[in-house]
Amino acid sequence: MNTLQQYMALFLVLIWHFRFSETYPQSGLDLVASRTGRHVGCRMDQEYPNGNICCLNCPAGTRTASPCSSDGRIGQCEECDDGTFTEHGNGLKHCFKCTQCRRDQEIVRACTHTEDAECRCRLGGFCDPDQACEVCKKCSSCEEDEEIVRNCTSTANTECKKTKRPNTVSAPAKVYVIVPIVLGLTVCAAFVIAVVWWKRRRTIDSQINVSNRLKPGPEDEPFPKLVPVNGEESLRKCFEYFEEIDYNYHKRFFRHLEINENVIRSKEHLLYEDKIHELLNIWVEKKGREGSLNDLLKALLDLNQRRTAETVKEKAVMSGHYVCDDK
Ligand SMILES: *[C@@H]1O[C@H](CO)[C@@H](O)[C@H](O)[C@H]1NC(C)=O
Repeated sequence: MNTLQQYMALFLVLIWHFRFSETYPQSGLDLVASRTGRHVGCRMDQEYPNGNICCLNCPAGTRTASPCSSDGRIGQCEECDDGTFTEHGNGLKHCFKCTQCRRDQEIVRACTHTEDAECRCRLGGFCDPDQACEVCKKCSSCEEDEEIVRNCTSTANTECKKTKRPNTVSAPAKVYVIVPIVLGLTVCAAFVIAVVWWKRRRTIDSQINVSNRLKPGPEDEPFPKLVPVNGEESLRKCFEYFEEIDYNYHKRFFRHLEINENVIRSKEHLLYEDKIHELLNIWVEKKGREGSLNDLLKALLDLNQRRTAETVKEKAVMSGHYVCDDK
């Protein structure tokens, strides 16, 4: 059995060898012929095709100045110029240009003849490594209610997380905040109410005072004594000022001056101004030298007609018929 297996194996090897010999003949000429054209079977990463032959790659950091002239040899290699590089063995005529770092980038690694430069975004900028970095994006900053989970790097934006401050305020802390506010508002409200109440009280009091003051009383706020400049003439000149007397009071006024009721009624048909003048004339004639403007004003004050009295007094003084006796 062993012998049979050995024969079988030998047979298979022979067939294999025969097939291989058919496809890749050992003769040099046949080999060159089989490597022609685009399908030349140069060893990947080690050789490059040049016409019908394969040349060995120039090493990293160099380029091919001229290819080899016989199969399996190395051509003429030349060091890459500064600013260019080749990272691997190659059959390239030109080295690659080094990457230039942009202004928003900084150099991590300078370019050598065998390695490209490496750039990264400057501080405050970033580029997603999965995308072409055409421009560095600005790192975002977290909102006020957020905290930084991860700082921005040249390849990843800042990561923020909402802070749970509203929820983290503990119950006692709430009490510390709310109680003073409520207390403060209460105090303010109480103060305002107190002020309003006090002011109203004062207004009522002052109204009472005013009405008290308005009540007739000879001692209350003495009226200055008026002295006529030209005797009875001055008095008569002032009659017209009494036209100011409220119609509803004029009869009481003359009664107060002790004018006979019949006399007052007898002047009823006259115009109001004329009636005033007539009755005042009668009063003056009755009083004679004793009659003075001060008596008339006192009568007005007695009848609670202070405003009218003031007006008459002012007009009497202003017109120059009377002067105030300041004594
Ligand atoms: C971010 O950087 C700052 C200062 O550069 C540092 O204080 C902070 O701890 C960093 N934060 C994180 C989440 O790494």
